[in-house]
Amino acid sequence: MGPPGGGKGTQAQRLASAHGIPQISTGDILRAAVREQTPLGVKAKGFMDRGDLVPDEVIIGVMADRLRQSDAQKGFLLDGFPRTQAQAEALDAKLRERGPSGVRVVNLDVPDQEVVSRISGRRSCGKCGAVYHVKFTPSRKEGACDKCGGALVQRDDDREEVICKRLEVYHAQTRPVLAFYEKKGVVRSVRGTGPLDEVTALIEQALA
Ligand code: AP5
Repeated sequence: MGPPGGGKGTQAQRLASAHGIPQISTGDILRAAVREQTPLGVKAKGFMDRGDLVPDEVIIGVMADRLRQSDAQKGFLLDGFPRTQAQAEALDAKLRERGPSGVRVVNLDVPDQEVVSRISGRRSCGKCGAVYHVKFTPSRKEGACDKCGGALVQRDDDREEVICKRLEVYHAQTRPVLAFYEKKGVVRSVRGTGPLDEVTALIEQALA
């Protein structure tokens, strides 16, 4: 968990590949649906472009389907879910059906002003989804993905006025979800600033 632009996607990609488990990102699932203009994408686009959350009943259904897939049976890393109390409760119920869940929560601490500068410089590969930052983590060749050569683009919701709205929504609806997991004693907060390798190492330590 963590604020928009907190590095959830960047770190989740690294950890998931190091541990051989899938990274399940609700943001990535929704953006793919928007690109493909599926009924889910059509429904979600307006909420995402405004910086609002997609309604719980929609996203909970999407996640229930995703967690049933074969690659998610031996563990998974969630990125961007749960984001509301209702989503956390629905996840809890799903995990209980599967037996002892062993859920662990890593919270990335990143101040709001850093979030704004990170998101405004973020560029993502339109083909494979790899994430860069024009200043902090640039691609080797400007505008092209190091991994697949795809064109780097700015997300529709990375405009300044939408970033402010996403931060507001995070503080009002998502940050309070941490209390749900704190009561279970499973939250580890980690400094989300500094070099990427350092943040990865802090997360690994917190989970050890
Ligand atoms: P989502 O895609 O989840 O967006 P988000 O939470 O706002 O998070 P971001 O993807 O913006 O940031 P991140 O934390 O992954 O950071 P990143 O690694 O990219 O959701 C988008 C929208 O979908 C939501 O607004 C909502 O509408 C909808 N949605 C999604 N899930 C939902 C749910 N569960 N319920 C309802 N609606 C939902 O890093 C950011 C930048 O910083 C990058 O450029 C990166 O290179 C750079 N960076 C990363 N780490 C560092 C570092 N240590 N130092 C310097 N730069 C760094």
